[in-house]
Amino acid sequence: MKAIAQDVYGSADVLRLCEVDQPSVGEDQVLVQVRAAGVDPGVWVCMTGRPYGARVAFGLRRPRVAVRGRALAGVVSAIGSGVRRFQPGDEVYGTGAGGTFAEYATASCEKLAPKPPSLSFEQAAAVPISGVTALECVRDGGRVRAGQRVMVVGAGGGIGSFAVQIAKAFGARVTGVCSTGKAELVRSLGADEVIDYTREEIDRDGPRHDVVIDIAGCRPLSLLRRALTPRGTLVLAGGGHDAGGLLGGYTRQLRAPLVSMFTSQRLRGLASRERAQELEELGRLIESGAVTPVVDRTYRLADAPDAIRHLAEGHPTGKIVIAMGSGAGRTPGD
Ligand SMILES: NC(=O)c1ccc[n+]([C@@H]2O[C@H](COP(=O)([O-])OP(=O)(O)OC[C@H]3O[C@@H](n4cnc5c(N)ncnc54)[C@H](OP(=O)(O)O)[C@@H]3O)[C@@H](O)[C@H]2O)c1
Repeated sequence: MKAIAQDVYGSADVLRLCEVDQPSVGEDQVLVQVRAAGVDPGVWVCMTGRPYGARVAFGLRRPRVAVRGRALAGVVSAIGSGVRRFQPGDEVYGTGAGGTFAEYATASCEKLAPKPPSLSFEQAAAVPISGVTALECVRDGGRVRAGQRVMVVGAGGGIGSFAVQIAKAFGARVTGVCSTGKAELVRSLGADEVIDYTREEIDRDGPRHDVVIDIAGCRPLSLLRRALTPRGTLVLAGGGHDAGGLLGGYTRQLRAPLVSMFTSQRLRGLASRERAQELEELGRLIESGAVTPVVDRTYRLADAPDAIRHLAEGHPTGKIVIAMGSGAGRTPGD
């Protein structure tokens, strides 16, 4: 099968389109014919091996798994002997067990759910990593309740475009923080207010947010806390992974619980778990019309390196997707 793979860590130049063996299906896994695959900053981390601490998980000297990609949407083509939830022909979305920038990928049933019928495969592939992280930020990290004021920093990107919609669905009043060009989009996603961070800082209106969800990952804790009420909750999702060193920008996540011990504010890092139950909850939000994935651009499989370069520039509008079919290589609306 065709796949995008790499032998060594490096920039997108190390990726190549090649022929690899189709993966074999484990007992509790399914084989999916991939129709579309989502691109997220985690793909960049696996590709570059940065921050260096990530190599403990992905391979010390070279990537343990050669094929890139994590999120997928597609059609089940084979099932393992222990699988009862799915059968060949089912349309699914979720996170792959290995790489998903490929014609076929395996996935554990725990990380897969039926594709929401109203979504195209491209839209569905945008959901599994970013939508799930956004749901966990709002539901678990922020414990958002109706009527609360919630700020989403990085509101126009992959996670942020979901977080704004999900916080609205939970009944919050949402302030979206984004650059000038995304203000209209963020308002259309339901934000009640928008702060254009190129003109004003997030503490513009003082400490009035019950929950601040930081996805952009580049502000100090002290600045983020200035936008929070005295008993508010700060959720750190983003980490500025390109900041270098062993942990990149993720040292804030380590410091947050320590700072939390000395303040009435609750500060916490969030590490997402991509599970079937979150995908199912998102599926319900999507089918109710409360959440719609925002797809920035789709690329053909062969152009996956360009997709990652676009992501690495740091300003995608919503999600970037690799599409296997004839619809690839376009911006929605073209
Ligand atoms: N904790 C977890 O489990 C988890 C899971 C997945 C991802 N992540 C991390 O979360 C982060 C974001 O992921 P993503 O998929 O949303 O990335 P993304 O799609 O690249 O979006 C990031 C957004 O941040 C915005 N941004 C850049 N600089 C900003 C600034 N100074 N202030 C405010 N916004 C700014 C950009 O929009 P503008 O054009 O408006 O600047 C961009 O849309 C990454 O660090 C990723 O590694 C964490």
